[in-house]
Amino acid sequence: MTQDFLPINGTDHIEFYVGNAKQSALFYQYAFGFELIAYAGPETGVRDRASYVLRQNKITLVLTTSLQPDSEISEHVKKHGDGVKVLALWVDDARKSFQETVVRGAEPAFEPKVLKDEYGEVVLAAIRTYGETVHTFVERKHYKGPFLPGYKPRTSGVHVEPIGLKYVDHCVGNVELGKMNHWVDFYEKVMGFSLLVTFDDKDISTEYSALMSKVVSNGNGYIKFPINEPASGKKKSQIEEYLDFYKSAGVQHIAIATDDIIHTVGELRRRGVEFLYVPETYYEDVLERVGTINESLEELKKLNILIDRDEEGYLLQIFTKPIQDRPTVFFEIIERNGAKSFGKGNFKALFESIEREQELRGNL
Ligand code: FE2
Repeated sequence: MTQDFLPINGTDHIEFYVGNAKQSALFYQYAFGFELIAYAGPETGVRDRASYVLRQNKITLVLTTSLQPDSEISEHVKKHGDGVKVLALWVDDARKSFQETVVRGAEPAFEPKVLKDEYGEVVLAAIRTYGETVHTFVERKHYKGPFLPGYKPRTSGVHVEPIGLKYVDHCVGNVELGKMNHWVDFYEKVMGFSLLVTFDDKDISTEYSALMSKVVSNGNGYIKFPINEPASGKKKSQIEEYLDFYKSAGVQHIAIATDDIIHTVGELRRRGVEFLYVPETYYEDVLERVGTINESLEELKKLNILIDRDEEGYLLQIFTKPIQDRPTVFFEIIERNGAKSFGKGNFKALFESIEREQELRGNL
């Protein structure tokens, strides 16, 4: 096996550009149980933006808003609505990560730079991926602060109850028609990822809409990026609806792992998070398809959690409705019980559910 030229320790953080970071931060604290750990803004000497850093176990979210109309952040929010700007990767050597990917064709977003404060130093560099999304390489082995230099520690002013969210399982990108293979090539050639699985429109089609998807993964498997593109069907694909409203390729969903999906989803529902609805008929024959599971089917049915099985085990999953008014970004909550796949057995039920929502929005 050849040497991995881009070793990655995991997802460092995910940064959203949003219209109102103060309010979004409260949503993630209250509803998703993230703790506020750091902040940057006018009070800390940052003049043009405010950023809230939220954490639960290994997941770090950053919510950033602009304080001015004519900024890259404002333009991003105007065009895309609230959305994911940065999928940051935790590496041991940010300069080398940048050089190795740029030499293979990556477009730089910014050159390596060193940031310092009283907690030490961090090296950052970034390359562009689909749409306006970027991958920032974060080298933090000489840093002991709460997040990055320039951010001050800050704790939640509200009582936060974590709900068992553990780590980022995968992040999915939606790209334009005909561009899936282009971006799969990018991850393979530029970032050294390998193709894990392919879903064609026969796997993922309903009466109306279809999509194609390929999943790429890095060397140690910690980073998994499925890439979707629309396929033609009788009516508009859910991927086309996303592209129509996001106005470019971008992150479609972030899947977060939990060890106890019944608890996690029960809490999310109690706190007002909305999920896609799958009809009761889904549960009538699901055990014939997936076999024995440890959880009570009644509980799963009550919470509308989906089940699938592959050669290695089973998984439980559920999808939120879009988390902003545009029908764009959403979350998946997933509990893996051995299974390493993505819930192919649920695609049809799921996409029919998405189509019901598209229909309600007048976008089918
Ligand atoms: Fe997913």
